[in-house]
Amino acid sequence: MKRSLEQMIEEDHDLLRNGMEAVADTSIEDVDERLEMFAEIESRLFAHEKAEQETIHAQMKLYDETKPLALLAEEQERIAKVLTIELQNVKLDDELWLPKFLALQGLILQHMSFEEDSIMPLAKQMLDQATINRLGIDFERHEKEEFKQSEMVYEN
Ligand SMILES: [Fe+2]
Ligand SMILES: [Fe+2]
Repeated sequence: MKRSLEQMIEEDHDLLRNGMEAVADTSIEDVDERLEMFAEIESRLFAHEKAEQETIHAQMKLYDETKPLALLAEEQERIAKVLTIELQNVKLDDELWLPKFLALQGLILQHMSFEEDSIMPLAKQMLDQATINRLGIDFERHEKEEFKQSEMVYEN
């Protein structure tokens, strides 16, 4: 059976949670591993957020009742992106790299909980099933396209 929009989002969130956990466990001694894992998780994160913005958030922004939560989610995503770009400019063996990453991880964890606990329930309450089904199809397409394009430029 085809996965629902909610399932796709939750599976992504689990993957991102695990991936960030693994990055947090990398050592300053092994920057190659750190770079590889961070680059992968960053590409997945950006593809995921972009797919959400193009589908569920865009739809929620159409209505007064759902717009505020979508705007808040997107603001969290924007801040996470700013911090991620800042982190790209910190050397992987700098002592500040890990604390900066951990702060970013905390924000993203909070953001994903917000989506699971507030965004998804409201979306399911306010949007009809046909719309949610369509958003699920679009989500998958946007995410694939975005992930394919994502090539990380990393100067270190
Ligand atoms: Fe998000
Ligand atoms: Fe999300």
